[in-house]
Amino acid sequence: MNLFEQQANEFLPRHIGPNEHFTGQMLRTIGVKSMDELIDKTVPATIRMKKPLNIPEAMSEYDYLKHMKEISLKNKLFANYIGQGYYDTITPSVILRNVFENPGWYTQYTPYQAEISQGRLESLLNYQTMVSELTALPIANASLLDEATAAAEAMTMFFNTLNKQDHIERPKFFVDKEIFPQTIDVLYTRAIPVGIEIVEGDYKSATIDASYFGAIVQYPNNKGSIEDYRDFIHTVHNAGAFVVMATDLLALTLLTPPGELGADVAVGSAQRFGVPLGYGGPHAAFFAAKDDFKRNIPGRIIGISIDAHGNRALRMALQTREQHIKREKATSNICTAQALLANMAAMYAVYHGPHGLKNIARRIALLTQTVADSIEERGFELTADNFFDTIVVKTDDITSIKAKAEKQLINLRYIDKHHIGISLDETTDVGDLYDLINCFENDVDPVAFDIQQEAELSHIPSALSRSSAFLTHPVFNIHHSESQMMRYIKQLENKDLSLNTSMISLGSCTMKLNAATEMMPLSWTHWSKIHPFAPENQAAGYKYIIDELSRYLCEITAFDACSLQPNSGAQGEYAGLLTIRGFHEANGDHHRKVMLIPISAHGTNPASAVMAGMKVVVVKALENGYIDVVDLKAKATEHSANLAGIMITYPSTYGVYEETVKEITDIIHQHGGQVYMDGANMNAQVGLTAPGLIGADVCHLNLHKTFAIPHGGGGPGMGPICVKKHLAPHLPGHIIIKNGKNAVSAAPYGSTSILLISYGYIRLLGSAGVKAATEYAILNANYMRARLDGAFDILYLGTNGTCAHEFIVDLRPFKKSAEVEAEDVAKRLIDYGFHAPTMSFPVPGTIMIEPTESEDKAELDRFCDALLSIREEIKAIEDGKEDKKDNALKNAPHTQLTVTADEWKHPYSRQTAAFPLYYVTQNKFWPSVARVNNTHGDRNLICTCEPVESYMEVDA
Ligand SMILES: Cc1ncc(COP(=O)(O)O)c(C=O)c1O
Repeated sequence: MNLFEQQANEFLPRHIGPNEHFTGQMLRTIGVKSMDELIDKTVPATIRMKKPLNIPEAMSEYDYLKHMKEISLKNKLFANYIGQGYYDTITPSVILRNVFENPGWYTQYTPYQAEISQGRLESLLNYQTMVSELTALPIANASLLDEATAAAEAMTMFFNTLNKQDHIERPKFFVDKEIFPQTIDVLYTRAIPVGIEIVEGDYKSATIDASYFGAIVQYPNNKGSIEDYRDFIHTVHNAGAFVVMATDLLALTLLTPPGELGADVAVGSAQRFGVPLGYGGPHAAFFAAKDDFKRNIPGRIIGISIDAHGNRALRMALQTREQHIKREKATSNICTAQALLANMAAMYAVYHGPHGLKNIARRIALLTQTVADSIEERGFELTADNFFDTIVVKTDDITSIKAKAEKQLINLRYIDKHHIGISLDETTDVGDLYDLINCFENDVDPVAFDIQQEAELSHIPSALSRSSAFLTHPVFNIHHSESQMMRYIKQLENKDLSLNTSMISLGSCTMKLNAATEMMPLSWTHWSKIHPFAPENQAAGYKYIIDELSRYLCEITAFDACSLQPNSGAQGEYAGLLTIRGFHEANGDHHRKVMLIPISAHGTNPASAVMAGMKVVVVKALENGYIDVVDLKAKATEHSANLAGIMITYPSTYGVYEETVKEITDIIHQHGGQVYMDGANMNAQVGLTAPGLIGADVCHLNLHKTFAIPHGGGGPGMGPICVKKHLAPHLPGHIIIKNGKNAVSAAPYGSTSILLISYGYIRLLGSAGVKAATEYAILNANYMRARLDGAFDILYLGTNGTCAHEFIVDLRPFKKSAEVEAEDVAKRLIDYGFHAPTMSFPVPGTIMIEPTESEDKAELDRFCDALLSIREEIKAIEDGKEDKKDNALKNAPHTQLTVTADEWKHPYSRQTAAFPLYYVTQNKFWPSVARVNNTHGDRNLICTCEPVESYMEVDA
C-alpha cells in the first residue's frame, strides 16, 4: 500500500483490535495457518459469497468528516412550525456534551447487570418518576420507540386483558379523528393482523357500547385544541372499556393531567425534553398506566430493591420486565427501546426542574397566544379557542401564505387546502414572531404586535388548568447550576461500566467500537434540526444517506429492496413478517398463518409472529444445536397448506453456521412458505455470505449491533429490513412522505439521524474493511474459545470444531461440583473489571461470549485470564479448599465499602476479593452496590423515586 492508500485505509486498524503480529499468534493458538484457513473451516463453502461487495472503498476519517459536512449542507435549515408530535428544542449543552456525546453514557448496555448499572438505572427511574408525575398515573416504563407505537402498545395491551370470547364480542377500538395521522396509521397496521376493528370518529358524538374494548384521544389534539375528555372517559368506562390519552409532557406542566381526568393510560413522546429532531429520531416515547396494568406494561420498568447488605439498589423489575420473554404468550415484542434518549429527557427535567419546565411551557403558550391574537386581528379565523402551543388557521389562500413563508425560510403545517397549522416550541423567541405573523400580513403594513409578559394564558381553560404539584422530589430541585448538573451526570456515569472501561462481550449483542468519527455529525445542526415532515426538498442530504445506505444494505444482504423504518430489531421482525403476510394475502392465501420458529430463537421472534397475526409452531434442535431437519420436515408437511414460513437466525443463536441451512430454506419454499432471517448475527456474515445466499426472502439488520450504532444503555436501535423483489410491494409505507400505508413507526425512516453512524461505518471501512471486520470477529471468538477450551466445556461447535463470532460456555456442571451458579460467575467477573457475557440465552446455565472484532489481543487475554482464574476459584471449592457458602464467587461483587470495612470475616482475603489478578490493580472498577436482591424488589414493587419523607431521618 502506498502512502495515500494507507491514509485512506487508516480506519481499519483503528476499528479492528488485533494487529498483524498478534493475528499470527492468535491463528497459531487456534491451530490454523491463516485467516483464510480459519474462515474456510468455519463458513460452509456452499453459501460463501463469491465476489467482493460492490460498495465504495474506504475513506480516511478526515475525508469522511469533510464529506459529511458537504452532504449536510444539502439539508436546508428552516424555522419549523410543523409540530405534529415533533418540536424543536434546546438541548442543554451540559447534557449534550456529558450524555449525548459521551461514550460513558452512549456505549452502555441494557442494565441486566444491575450492580454495574446503578447510574443509568437511577436516571431511568428519574424518567419514570417524571412521566408518572406529569401524567398523574402511578406507573411508567422506560421507555418505548415512538409515540405512535406507544399508542399501538396501549391498544394491544387493553385488547390482551380480555379473554378470547371478549375478543369476539368486544373487537372495537375507538380512534378520535383528531389523533396525529401517523399514529392512526400505525394503529391500523397493528390492529388488522390481530383482529382489532378500528372505528374512527368524533369523540363528542361517538356511541361507545359493549362492543368496544378501548378508545384513544389526544390532549392537546392534532389541531392543538385542548378538549375536556372527562365525560367521554366516563362513558367509555361505563361501557367496560379503557381509555388511552396521547399527550404532551410540556403541556402537562400547565394542564390537568390525564390521570386526574380518569384516563387509564397516557402515551406520548419525550422528544421536546432536549432531544434533537434528527429528521425523525431517535426519541423516547413514554407509557404510563394505572396500577392495574403493571403486569402487562410493555418495555422495561426500573424498580427499587436492596442489595446483599440491605442498601438501596435499583434493577429492572423482573415481574414486569420485557413481555417478549413470554415468547408467543407475550403481548408486546419491545426489546431495545430508547434508553439513552429517555436519560437525556430525564436529565432535561432534572436540570430545569418543575419551575423551569413550567416557565418554558408558559413562554411557549404566551407566544402562541400572541401569534393567535395577531393573526385573528388580521381577519383570520382559528379552529379552536383553547390551545397550548398549536393553532390552526382557516384560509382560502394557502398558496400565497406558503410562498411568503418559504421566502422567509419558514415551515408551516399545510393540513389541507383550507387549514394551516402553526406549532411553537422552546426555540421560538419574540423576534421570530415578526416573520411568522408576516406570513399572514398584507405586503404593505409593517408587522406589529403586543406581548405582555404577565398576561393571563387566556386560551388555557380554567377547568383544565393544572393545580397539582409535580417533580417535587429533591433530584428535580437541586441540580440547577451547571457545576452541580455536570457532577450529577458524572457521578451516575461513574457507577456504570461501559465500553470506555473494558470489553462487553455480550453474545448476540455485538458490542463493537462506536467510533467517535461515526458519531460526530449527529450533533451538527444540519442533521439535528430537520423536522421529519419537512418538505423532501429540504432534506436532500438525508435523502442521499438514505439512498446510499439502502443500496449498501441490499448489497450486503444480497436482497433487492430495503425499508429503514423499523426502530429496533424486534420492530424489524414485525415489519418483515408483515411483508410475508402481505405477500400471502396478495396471492389469495389468507390462510397461510403458521410460522415455524426454532426452539433456540430469541423471545422477540415468537412475540413478533403473534403480533403479525401468525400461529407459532416450535421446531426442535438437535444435541449439536442444529435445527432438527427431521422435525422441521414433519412440521412443514403437517402445516403445508397453512404454512406462512419460518424464522431462522443465522449463524444460529448457538453460534454455528449450520451446513443444513439451504436444505431448511428449500423445504420451506417447497411448502409455499417464506423464510425470515433474524439478522442479529449479521456480524458473522458481512462479506462472507448473505441472507440472500442462504435462501432467505427477508431479514432485519440490527444496525445497533453489526453496523456500529451504540446501544445507549438499551436503545436507540435501528432494525431496517431488506427483502427480495417479490416482497418489496409489501414494505412499510408512510402517510406523510411516502404516500403509503402500513407504517410501523411514526417517522418515515425511523430514527433517521442515527443512520449516519451506520453509513459512516461502511464508508470508513469500505468494501474490504467490512469483510475484514467479519473475519476478525470470527478470529477473536475462536481465539478465546481456544484459550478457554479444556478449562470449560464449550458447547455447539461447527463440523471442523470452530465457532462463529460467538460461543457458549457451559457453567451447569459447577452447580453440582461446587454449588456455583452462572450468576455467581457473572457477578464475580465484575470484581475482575468485566461485564458478564450474555447469561442463560439461548441455554439456561451458560454464558455466551461475543468479543467482536474491535477488541485487541491484550483485552481478550485479560478476559480469558479472568475466566480461567475464576475456574481456579471454582476448583478450590470443588477440592474443599474454599467454603461452599462463603467464598469470593458467592459474595461477588465486592464493593469498596465492604473491602475497606474495619470488619472482614470471610475465609478469603480482601485482596482476593477486590484485586484477584495484577491487571485489576491498574484499572479497578468498583461496583457501587453489592449483589442485588431481585425477589425483594419484585415483592415490593416501587418504580418511581421514593417520596421525600423516606429520606428523612427518623428521630430516635
Ligand atoms: C437474536 C436476536 N433477535 C432479535 C433481537 C431483538 O432486537 P432488538 O433488541 O433490537 O429489538 C435480539 C436482541 O438482542 C437478538 O439477540
